[in-house]
Formats: sequence, structure tokens, C-alpha cells
Amino acid sequence: MAEFIKPNIVPKCKLYTGEEIPCIGMGTFGSDRFNAEQVSNAVAGAIRCGYRMFDCASVYGNEDLIGKVFDQALREGAVKREELFVTSKVWNDMHGKGDVLLSLAKTLRDLQLDTIDAYFVHWPFANYHAPGCDGDSRNPDSKPFSAERFMATWRQMEHLHDMGLVRHIGMSSMTIPKLKAVLPLCRIKPSLIEMELHPCFQQWELFDYVVKQGIQPIGFCPIGSPTRPDRDKTPDDVADIAVPAVVQIAKAHGVHPAVICLKWAVQRGQIPIPFSVYENEYVSNLKCTTVDPLTDAEMEAMKTVECNNRLIKGQVFLWPGAKDWHDLWDEDGTITK
Ligand SMILES: NC(=O)c1ccc[n+]([C@@H]2O[C@H](COP(=O)([O-])OP(=O)(O)OC[C@H]3O[C@@H](n4cnc5c(N)ncnc54)[C@H](OP(=O)(O)O)[C@@H]3O)[C@@H](O)[C@H]2O)c1
Repeated sequence: MAEFIKPNIVPKCKLYTGEEIPCIGMGTFGSDRFNAEQVSNAVAGAIRCGYRMFDCASVYGNEDLIGKVFDQALREGAVKREELFVTSKVWNDMHGKGDVLLSLAKTLRDLQLDTIDAYFVHWPFANYHAPGCDGDSRNPDSKPFSAERFMATWRQMEHLHDMGLVRHIGMSSMTIPKLKAVLPLCRIKPSLIEMELHPCFQQWELFDYVVKQGIQPIGFCPIGSPTRPDRDKTPDDVADIAVPAVVQIAKAHGVHPAVICLKWAVQRGQIPIPFSVYENEYVSNLKCTTVDPLTDAEMEAMKTVECNNRLIKGQVFLWPGAKDWHDLWDEDGTITK
């Protein structure tokens, strides 16, 4: 029988709406390595051991099986619907007029839920690539970011919120220049923004900017995504869990370095959404938020691990004429056109 971590002892983060949500969730992207059944079994196990937040997306191709798990857990009374915080995301091929509603409808049907707790625009442009495609593949129809196009999608998100089908709306993989362009135009401000955050990629400027806007950051790839698809691996990437400072702190706490990445994330104030299909791993990932915090000195030492190592570079979303993946991230402070 897996250890049960009481959800009420897991620390909470407060959204600008006043709602409190868990300081950690479980990721559900099986990458190219874990199938939908393995991921949904992990979700079932995670509910049993006390997870209450799950990060889903239509493009992960497993919402139907995860929905069966939610349905069973709710029917058996293992958890109440209002205790769960379930997120999902509209994929890049569903940004067109009316498409966001259609995408949400499928997600609701697959997840067997009446509402989604937070619905995200997965990427800030409608540049589609087939799931699992090669890292060098490009879609000739891809276009650079446009605030006008993004806002047309966001208006649909706001409408879904008005309809009561999604309780919060959010963005993902944004940059400060893109946020500066769109936040003043939002009728409903995002409650949450997903961004890549791990010790080797701390994104301080973006993190601080988002927090200052009253928006809660969610950190994806919180462990440095050691099992990410091969198309997202480059020779210069640094493995967070092998960095000497992280390994040393892990030794001091008697835990795996992955756990240190998560403690750091929670204490810094982002919501990490680690993925694992292994019970021992996902139990320790949740439990670590409730015991033995990092010291102030260790939190300072974690700052030195930062080395600007973006893992999800997004090169498959580039448009004709773009130089390379850096163009997606507005590194000179302006939106790359
Ligand atoms: N919004 C977006 O665009 C976006 C992008 C990427 C990801 N995400 C979300 O973020 C989630 C997490 O990112 P991710 O899955 O890429 O990476 P991650 O959570 O950083 O890394 C997952 C891997 O870390 C290892 N791990 C987990 N817990 C461990 C532990 N306690 N001890 C040792 N190893 C451990 C496992 O690898 P082993 O099998 O080797 O143990 C696991 O496969 C995704 O599942 C998805 O929900 C969102």
C-alpha cells in the first residue's frame, strides 16, 4: 500500500482570485517513452497517495484514459471533484474561430469532467507540428507571434470562462515582450502561466515579472526532464540532477537530486509539475514538499546553478525565414518578427 500524504499538509499557493491550490502537481506528458496506459496508471496511483493537481493537455494523447481514472476515483469516493485541480491546454492546431470551444469539449469529454480548473493556451502561436515529429521538421504555414492573432484565441478562452466551462485561464511559454503586448488587452487576466523552470534554467526576469503581475507561475520540466524526447536534446544541455551543487545538497538531505529540484521550486514560489510513472518517485516528489525544507544557504547555493539551459527550445514551431530557435524567445527584449 503506497504512502498517503494528506492533501491538507501539502503547502498551497494563492491565485489572484483568492483560490488556494496545491504547491505541486503531477505532469502527464509521457514523452515518446511512456504510453497512455502507464501515465494514467500513474495518475490513479498519484490520487491514491494524495496528489490533487494534474497537468493535462490534449496533445499528450492520454486524456481519455486519464478521464477513466478520474471517473473511477470520483465514483469510488477516493476524492471529491472540488478537491481536484485539473488543468488542460488547447493545442496549436485549434486556435481558429470556434476551435477553442471544440478543443475544450473534447477534453471535457475525454477527462469526463464538467469543468476544467485551468485551461491554457499551450503555445502562443498556431504553428502546428505533428506529435512526435522529427526535430528538424518545419511547417511552411507557421507564422511569427502576432498579438492580434493571440488575442483572437484569448477572446475564445475568456468566453469559455464566461460560460463557466473553465474556472481559470492561463498562458504557456510566453516571454516578457509577448506578455507586455497582450496583458493590457486581456479582459480576464491569466491566473497561471506555465514556463520552463528548473535549477539550470531559472528565468528570474520572467518569473519576477509574472509574479509582479499577480500571476502564479507553474514550472514545467522541473527536474530538467531527463526523459524528454530525443528531438529536445542537444549536446550542450546540462543535466540538473547531475550538477555538483544539487548532488551535494541532495546528499545532505539523503534524497535523490530530483527531490532537491522540487523543494527548490516550491520554496521559490513556482508550482512544479514533475512527471513520473514510478510510485516511489511520485510519492517522494509529493512528500518532499511537506518535510525537511532547504535552508536559506542552500536556496542561495541553488541560485548559482543557473546556466541559461533552455531544454524545450521549440524549434519545430519556427516559421519560414526564422533564423533558429532563439527567435522564439525574444531574447533581445523585442518580439521577433
Ligand atoms: N506547457 C508546456 O508547454 C509543457 C512543456 C513541457 C512539459 N510540460 C508539463 O510538465 C511536466 C513535467 O515535465 P517533464 O515530464 O518534461 O520533465 P520532469 O518532470 O522535469 O522530468 C521527468 C523525469 O524525471 C525523473 N524523475 C521524476 N521524479 C523523480 C525522482 N523522485 N527521482 C528520480 N528521478 C525522477 C523521471 O525519469 P526516470 O524515468 O529516468 O526516473 C521522469 O521521467 C510534463 O509531464 C507536462 O505535464 C508542459
